[in-house]
Amino acid sequence: MNFSEAKMIETFRSVVRFKSIETDSVTRRLDRAADIEDLRKIAKRRLPRGVFDYIDGAAEDEVTMARNSGDFDRIEFKPRILRDVSNIDLSATVLGKKIPMPLLLSPTGFTRIADSQGELAVARAAGRAGIPYGLSTLSTRSIEDVADAAPGPKWFQVYTWKDRGLVSEMLQRAREADYEAILLTVDTAVLGRRERDVRRGYTLPPKIGLDTIIDGVIHPAWTLDFLRGGAITFSNVAGRDGDGTSAVSLSDYIGTQFTQALSWEDVEWLRSQWDRPIVLKGVQTVADAKQAVAVGVEGIALSNHGGRQLDGAPSPISLVEPVAQEVQDQADVICDGGVRRGSDILKAVALGATAVSIGRPYLYGLGAAGERGVDHVIEFFRSGLERSMALSGVRTIDEVNRDLVSLR
Ligand SMILES: Cc1cc2nc3c(=O)[nH]c(=O)nc-3n(C[C@H](O)[C@H](O)[C@H](O)COP(=O)(O)O)c2cc1C
Repeated sequence: MNFSEAKMIETFRSVVRFKSIETDSVTRRLDRAADIEDLRKIAKRRLPRGVFDYIDGAAEDEVTMARNSGDFDRIEFKPRILRDVSNIDLSATVLGKKIPMPLLLSPTGFTRIADSQGELAVARAAGRAGIPYGLSTLSTRSIEDVADAAPGPKWFQVYTWKDRGLVSEMLQRAREADYEAILLTVDTAVLGRRERDVRRGYTLPPKIGLDTIIDGVIHPAWTLDFLRGGAITFSNVAGRDGDGTSAVSLSDYIGTQFTQALSWEDVEWLRSQWDRPIVLKGVQTVADAKQAVAVGVEGIALSNHGGRQLDGAPSPISLVEPVAQEVQDQADVICDGGVRRGSDILKAVALGATAVSIGRPYLYGLGAAGERGVDHVIEFFRSGLERSMALSGVRTIDEVNRDLVSLR
C-alpha cells in the first residue's frame, strides 16, 4: 500500500459509520417520517384510496383547508436572543386545568377506518402525553370503552340528534365516565360537500363492491386489520336505528339523524344538562365569539371543521387575534385547524390562543403506523414547540405574547 492509498483508507475510516439495522418495521417507518407531510404520504400508501380521501379531503374546492395551514406562513417570529433557555416549561392551563402543553386532539368520527383500534389507540396516546382527547359523537368506540382504555383527560363532542333524549342520555354517560368538558359542534347544520367522497361514492362503513375489493387487495395490511377488527358501528348508539351497521352516505346520515334547527337557545338547554365546561366548536366570526361569551360558554374553538364544511370560511389562525381581543379572559380560545408544526402552536399562542387542536395529523399517524404513529405525532409537536420556544427566547407559555410575532 502506498502513501496515498493509506491516506484514503484513513479518510474512509474517519467517516464511515455502519448503522445497526433496525428490525422493527414500524420503527423504521417512523424514523424516516420527518414531518406530518411524510406521515400523510405513508398513510396514503397504506390506506385504501377511498379511506385516505375521506380523511384527507375537504369541502368543494378545498380552498379553506389550504388556507387553514397556509395562513400560518404569514406569521413571522421576532426571536429574542441571549435569554437563558436551558429550562423550558411547555405547560398550559386549559379550562382551568394544567396540561403538559397547549395541544389537544380534536374529535374525528369513524376513526376505526384508519386503524382497527380506532379511538382507543388515539385516546391511549393522548393519555400517555397527558393532553385532552375529544371523543366524537360519531365514534366507533363507545364513551365507556374509551374511558376504560385511557385514564387521561377526555372531552366529549356533541352533535345534536333530533332525539333530545338521546343527547341527554349521552351527556349522562359522559359525566359518569368522567369526561371533563363537552365540545358542542356548531358548524354542521348540514354536511359540507366533500367532492372526493362524491366521486368515489364513499359510504360509512365502506361498502364492499368490486372497486373496494381491488383497493383492499392492493392494501393488504389495512384490509387484514380492518377485517380482524370486527363489525364497525357508531358505538355510542349501537343497537339503535341508524347505528351505522348498514352503509349510508354521511350526508344522508347527518340529514336524517341531526337537527338543522340548532340555535343559541339550545346552548342554554345544554347548560341545563351539563354542569362542566362547554366549548363551542366551529365559531368563525368575532360577532359569534362575543355572543358565545354572553351565553357563558367556557371555551371557543375557532374551527371550520378542517375545511370540511363551508368552503370559503376564514382560517382559524386568522381569527385568533381579533377573537382573543374581543373575549379577553372570559373564555379560552382554541385554534382548531391547519396546525402542522410545533412552531404553529407558538404562533397561535402568541396571537392570543389558549391552545391549539389537531385532527388530520394524528389520523395520518394512525393510518401510517397505528397507535405508535399517534405517539410519534404528539412527540413531533411537543419537541417542535420546545425547540421553537428555545430559538425565539421564551421559557414559559405565560411568557409568550404578541411581541413575539409580526404579520407579513
Ligand atoms: C376524518 C375527520 C373526521 C372528523 N369528524 C368530526 C366529528 O365527528 N366531529 C367534529 O366535531 N369534528 C370532526 N372533524 C373535524 C375535527 O374535529 C377538526 O376540527 C379538524 O380536523 C381540524 O383540522 P385539521 O384536520 O387541519 O387539524 C373531523 C375531521 C376529520 C379530518
